[in-house]
Amino acid sequence: DRGAGEGQLQADRQAEVAAAAEALRAGGLVILPTETVYGLGANAADPAAVAAIFEAKGRPRFNPLIAHVADLETAARIAVFDDRAHALAREFWPGPLTIVAPIRDPEAVCDLARAGLDTVAIRVPGHPLSRAVLAAFGGAVVAPSANRSGRPSPTTYDDAMAETGDKAAAHLDGGPCAVGLESTVVSVLEGEVRLLRPGAVTRVQLQQIVGRLAEAQDDAKRSPGRLALHYAPDAPVRINAKTPEAGEAYLAFGPWPESPRVFNLSPTGDLAEAAANLFAFLRAADRIRPSAIAVAPIPEEGLGEAINDRLRRAAGYVG
Ligand code: TXA
Ligand code: MG
Repeated sequence: DRGAGEGQLQADRQAEVAAAAEALRAGGLVILPTETVYGLGANAADPAAVAAIFEAKGRPRFNPLIAHVADLETAARIAVFDDRAHALAREFWPGPLTIVAPIRDPEAVCDLARAGLDTVAIRVPGHPLSRAVLAAFGGAVVAPSANRSGRPSPTTYDDAMAETGDKAAAHLDGGPCAVGLESTVVSVLEGEVRLLRPGAVTRVQLQQIVGRLAEAQDDAKRSPGRLALHYAPDAPVRINAKTPEAGEAYLAFGPWPESPRVFNLSPTGDLAEAAANLFAFLRAADRIRPSAIAVAPIPEEGLGEAINDRLRRAAGYVG
């Protein structure tokens, strides 16, 4: 069980699910809740619909998208999964792990969606609404985070609507995202597993399934979309701040006195709670128009690796 993202879909939402699947078939974009962050979805096989995603986000076209599918069988028809990819998928799907593998069916996830690469990034999301839409639609849905390019990922329906809602033909409210950070991205190529983007599934969890991970390559090669300034609010972000300065908002971690300028990621120092709050609190801190957003040091263990990755990028440092 992976938490609040899973569960049974209420019967009264079937009409919304059918409408979203229909919008995808018609080439439209869909605000799609997942357990990680809200996505902006399109039919992966439709180049015009995929082009509309890049347009809506202002996203550079060299940055490939993640294909979302209903189950492992569909994934294995689209990509070439070796034993390790299968083992990872069986352990973590549905859930916040994206697997980059050689493309098998280049029509199912079009060239533009893959940014011309001969590999494809694919995952089965855990949220019941996205799974229902994927099952009703049948094919692959590419869905980047629903923010405009460079901004924090939306983790609530309202934030997703504010970012790209006007570009979508269907909108699904799945409540606040249980995980709050994007999926972990690994490549499984030529028998080697590499961590391309730290995320909700931790390095240790991966090692428990596949043993040692191969050495990471340099940032540009690792994952084409990993730009230096990313996930950024309007205010500058100052990381590893033991205490805030006058005029700053403060994202605390652990016990800290309450104040209107303080947003505590987790008063008890819980990394899962901090991950779930991170993007929403960056946005909330931004709204008080501070001189900067100072962020407390976050331990680099477990989920902390992914939190610190996002914070370094929000602050403008390359990971
Ligand atoms: O949790 C998530 O993964 C969310 C939800 C909506 O599923 N999606 C998401 O998508 O974060 P996006 O587009 O913001 O990030 C996709 C990442 C980028 O870093 C991109 O470069 C990488 O996946 N990626 C996609 N295809 C790739 C490929 N063939 N090789 C290497 N990296 C790839
Ligand atoms: Mg993104």
